[in-house]
Amino acid sequence: MSEQAHMARGRWSSRMAFILAATGSAVGLGNIWKFPYIAGENGGGAFVLVYLICIALIGIPIMMSEVMIGRRGRLSPINTMALLAKSEGANPRWKWLGVMGVVAGFLILSYYSVIAGWALYYVLEAGSGVFTQASPEKIKSVFDGMVGSPATLLFWHTVFMAMTMFVVARGVSQGLEKAVTTLMPGLFVILLGLLVYSFFEADFSRGVEFLFAADFSKLSGEAILTAMGHAFFTLSLGMGAIMIYGSYLPDDVSIAKTAVIVSVLDTAVALVAGLVIFPIVFANGLEAGAGPGLVFQTLPIAFGQMPGGVIIATLFFIMLVFAAWTSAISLIEPAVAWYGEKFGSSRTKAAVVTGFVTWLIGVGSALSFNVWGDPLLFGKNFFDLLDFLTANIMLPLGGLFIAIFAAWVMHRRTAREALEMRDGALFHLWHFLVRYVTPVAVLLIFLQAIGVIG
Ligand code: TRP
Repeated sequence: MSEQAHMARGRWSSRMAFILAATGSAVGLGNIWKFPYIAGENGGGAFVLVYLICIALIGIPIMMSEVMIGRRGRLSPINTMALLAKSEGANPRWKWLGVMGVVAGFLILSYYSVIAGWALYYVLEAGSGVFTQASPEKIKSVFDGMVGSPATLLFWHTVFMAMTMFVVARGVSQGLEKAVTTLMPGLFVILLGLLVYSFFEADFSRGVEFLFAADFSKLSGEAILTAMGHAFFTLSLGMGAIMIYGSYLPDDVSIAKTAVIVSVLDTAVALVAGLVIFPIVFANGLEAGAGPGLVFQTLPIAFGQMPGGVIIATLFFIMLVFAAWTSAISLIEPAVAWYGEKFGSSRTKAAVVTGFVTWLIGVGSALSFNVWGDPLLFGKNFFDLLDFLTANIMLPLGGLFIAIFAAWVMHRRTAREALEMRDGALFHLWHFLVRYVTPVAVLLIFLQAIGVIG
């Protein structure tokens, strides 16, 4: 590719920029909102251990595969898959793997934006002291009032989508890179500040015990599969987000090393988020296994009772917004890049069109919490259906095919060259994991998700 084409397409200015962007994608609602409550529901320690094993054996190898494929193709996931299938002499229909990824990105972002909108709303509620000394009933009514109001949800969904598309429209270096290099350090600072608070002011030791003391009797088969599914979601794998980020990666950066760094950072943020949330929850006499309401209902009760709670709560929800924002841009980037390639249009036009489509699907999710809450299919409403279809079916399926492509379709030599791994033993370990371990594990998640087993 010519120097000029590089500039037109965009590229991360450094290895650090890529690490922040990929970590920004990975660290999201999944780490701060979802991980703590699924760990809580599944008994803590033993679940956390299984999740860590999944990150190491499935997550890191697939992340390396996605970055490798992306950098080799240097196009949107759809055209990258088409290009590599051609150069490896494989079936041109591999392009549909890219198509599924782009579609999954639209669908995930459409509901992700609605939840991110809750976080925006809670920044204002927390900042104006609504939770201070509030009873659990009062806090529940704040939450119910928010999700019960179509206007409120649609307003904040719209604000969040506008924030996302504003960044994406400005392109890789002026938009994405600037956003992640500002927001991610902010996120880390807030998270560490909250950790210090939790350490000195809350019931830290009980939080540690809850997250790390492994009681295997509490570990069900379903919990193991939940841990695997979450490893995918939290690392942003299976739909081409990390692939497109890899397509902007300079040639001389080590893929193995950066994939390990990003995975470790993502895992650290999830664990530290747990170490912030659980000690605060326990110190205020509340329960850990609170389900999806942990962050939006249980935690605000604790914030309301503690000294300095207004500031701590506001910072917490700002951090949640930052995390969601840097993830959202990665969910839509594959579609924006593809739109530009297909129609030769500007990033602004691509962002407006793809953003509008996402916003429109999101309206269905926003209404699922109120006027359109009745089940549509399989006892699930629109929001639950989208969540199930994307997280439990499309991502594992995408991950499975990415693994198959990287380890069975691509020639071993091409893969090794694309990864630029000098260490033969490590390359063989990667190849073995992606060839055998990952596909079997992913197949298990998939079968569980569609109810064949477990
Ligand atoms: N990883 C993010 C989170 O934990 C969500 C996310 C961003 C994502 N991009 C993705 C999930 C791509 C799956 C695929 O919140």
